[in-house]
Amino acid sequence: MALWGGRFAADSSSMFRQVNDSLPFDRVMASQDIQGSIIWSRGLKKAGVLTDDEQAQLEAALTELKAQADAGTLDFDASPEEDIHSFVEAALIEKLGDIGRKLHTGRSRNDQVATDFRLWVREHVDSLKGDLVALIRSLLNTASRHQEAIIPGYTHLQRAQPIHFAHWCLAYVEMFKRDLSRLSDMQSRLNQCPLGSGALAGTTYPVDRETIAQELGFASPCLNSLDAVSDRDFVLELLFCASTSMMHMSRLAEDLIFYNSGEAGFLQLGDSVTSGSSLMPQKKNPDALELMRGKCGRVFGHLQALLVTMKGLPLAYNKDMQEDKEGAIDAVNQWHCCLCIAGEVLDSLSLNEDRCREAATQGYANATELADYLVGKGIPFRTGHDIAGQVVLKAIEAGCAIEALPLSDLQQVCDKIDEDVYPVLQLEFGVNQRNILGGTSKETVTKALYQELESLDKLG
Ligand code: ARG
Repeated sequence: MALWGGRFAADSSSMFRQVNDSLPFDRVMASQDIQGSIIWSRGLKKAGVLTDDEQAQLEAALTELKAQADAGTLDFDASPEEDIHSFVEAALIEKLGDIGRKLHTGRSRNDQVATDFRLWVREHVDSLKGDLVALIRSLLNTASRHQEAIIPGYTHLQRAQPIHFAHWCLAYVEMFKRDLSRLSDMQSRLNQCPLGSGALAGTTYPVDRETIAQELGFASPCLNSLDAVSDRDFVLELLFCASTSMMHMSRLAEDLIFYNSGEAGFLQLGDSVTSGSSLMPQKKNPDALELMRGKCGRVFGHLQALLVTMKGLPLAYNKDMQEDKEGAIDAVNQWHCCLCIAGEVLDSLSLNEDRCREAATQGYANATELADYLVGKGIPFRTGHDIAGQVVLKAIEAGCAIEALPLSDLQQVCDKIDEDVYPVLQLEFGVNQRNILGGTSKETVTKALYQELESLDKLG
């Protein structure tokens, strides 16, 4: 029978059940629900609602249920219950009879679900942080394997200036470090315990909310009962963290898809993260990367969906809020899988350093070096920029690189250009000139790489 059966004469329609029941998805919170109940029973004992013996029986039965939940042996499919809270309570009543019926004293499913979902999110955030650290490790290892490699850096997807490949890896390390710190920030806001807020107005039983919060690992109890049962900011923050990190991964994916293309040819992906074509025997497609990019759609969608669901909801609890779970559960799964597969892709890739170098040398990516060289000769940068542009035009007409033009051709454009320009136009020169903090020189990148490797153990 439903938890609320007393007031009702007729049964729910089967379509209502289909729309209303959340057990098919909120079963993922079984362990958290039971843990919350164990701590609540202790709170009731301390408040004088349960005897020592009653609480001991409840805790023993709940502990047994929790072991089953953790082992995945609870039979949800055969259950007529509408959600995980009624499922656990029904299982308890079946084991203990009237003692089981005492557990819900002073509690509502409203403060219960708000507590369970916070616990669930908190645990998953912990493991997602581990996934992020693992991906950062893969990026650092990839950078370490290719410390000499130089690739073209792009703006507007036009070759702009050459950069170390490790510098590219470290750019993504920065993004995933921010994703990590965003998760830590949201965890600190999430870490308040709603239990004791009742349906909306608080409870009449003198439970010790501080101890309950502490025993569930929360920093403190929520301070307002109305807010405690109505707030789903922590789910929105999780979805925002997931969306931002997926966006970062989609950019990583897009870069690698391009580097892997026949046109760029900078790298090959491992067989374990690519697939073939049913028709074209030669194909090796970057499916893992395309899916990292593609799955952004649904994750961003979950964020948007919950924002719209929450918009304009009157205080306090409304059943609309049950819609908070499926999207969040899916977002967490997709994000977890994408973080793991991104690491596998990086671990599998082999960089064609010669081809990278060739591409970095082409495309007049050393034109800025020429302009800077002219600045060194006392020419204002804007004028130097113009002269370098004219030299590029000359080289394009001659069908060669700037450094392949004879000095006489260069001097036709500007007589300040001398023999000493040629070393400046070499690939390594321009790259290693960018020796400033955050720049792409060998020295800066190596230093940054070792700093990141050192601090990796402190992350998460
Ligand atoms: N399954 C519900 C949810 O996820 C639990 C809370 C139900 N509360 C209520 N008053 N019907 O939101």
